[in-house]
Amino acid sequence: PDNGLARTPPMGWNSWNKFGCNVDETLIKRMADAMVSSGMKDAGYEYVVIDDCWHGARDERGDIQPDAKRFPSGMKALGDYIHSKGLKFGIYSDAGLKTCAGRPGSRGFEYQDARQYAAWGVDYLKYDWCMAGTQDAPSSYYIMSAALQATGRDIVFSICEWGHSKPWLWGASVGNLWRTTGDIYDAWEGVKDYSLGMLNILDKQAELQPFAKPGHWNDPDMLEVGNGGMTTEEYRSHFSLWAMLAAPLIAGNDIGHMDADTKAILTNKEVVAIDQDALGVQARRVSKQGDLEVWARPLKGGGRAVVLLNRGKTAAPIRVDWTMLDYPATVPAKLRDLWAAKDLGVRKGGYSAHVAPHGVVMVTVTP
Ligand code: DGJ
Repeated sequence: PDNGLARTPPMGWNSWNKFGCNVDETLIKRMADAMVSSGMKDAGYEYVVIDDCWHGARDERGDIQPDAKRFPSGMKALGDYIHSKGLKFGIYSDAGLKTCAGRPGSRGFEYQDARQYAAWGVDYLKYDWCMAGTQDAPSSYYIMSAALQATGRDIVFSICEWGHSKPWLWGASVGNLWRTTGDIYDAWEGVKDYSLGMLNILDKQAELQPFAKPGHWNDPDMLEVGNGGMTTEEYRSHFSLWAMLAAPLIAGNDIGHMDADTKAILTNKEVVAIDQDALGVQARRVSKQGDLEVWARPLKGGGRAVVLLNRGKTAAPIRVDWTMLDYPATVPAKLRDLWAAKDLGVRKGGYSAHVAPHGVVMVTVTP
């Protein structure tokens, strides 16, 4: 069912990348507060999502309850708190018998769990794929999707099946976003297929370009910006590329303790605006010469967003030709550098820039 939500990629914060299983209501409230005080809310971040490990047991009626030590005030109160900040409340479950951290899964309790989430005021559900055995993925996700729909509440549905059964082929009829890979690892490059660094995940997105559209997004996993495994330059690249991919922008750091660089990256409104562009078309890789790449996406109104990406260890010039953007070479186009927040005048033919090692230059090109 199409729930009409997530017309642009969802934005928010999720507990997993930084805090793992260490979640409780103090942390979640602190993050909701920080979302407002840090300027993240103002930049468009909205969902506060508790990932794995919030669960206690099911009660005598089979209704799922939170861990009473971690969430003594209960989930309704926590949802109310998040809503009182003008934010939205996200939660996590699993299509199998147990979550990845061994908490109760939703299998066999889908409608009951959906009803419980709705009663708590949940606005977003991330639905994982551990302990699912031989379950059929599309059917498993469809059941929860229908259960959420039956509650009558608007709940964004995040499919977290790691790309195993090609969810880009069926996800749009079931949910709003679907993970395309295994978990992101906080590094520029990991060990391919074993630990996926930022670039390994990026490479897997290129062929998925046709499947993203308003309401239905490829999810290259949550952001690692600010978590310490990459340099500031690399995090700027990570964030720029996720914006180009029309990826859900789900921060995964401690937004209550951000240094100035981290905050400047996550709250760059011009870069966020590329992610949130209403046309909803994901970027393609339009040129690759060794470590030097050009990614481009069309924007509403006929312009383009362009990222010049230097994957290599030495600074290098990278050029985008207007013809790579499906423009005639002779068309004069206005150029703006988004990270420098600077207009670069009108150019014909193309644009070249010197790009730092592991860095990007991100521009808009508007004929
Ligand atoms: C696997 C998912 O891919 C992660 O994002 C996270 O939700 C963990 N499970 C939680 O156990």
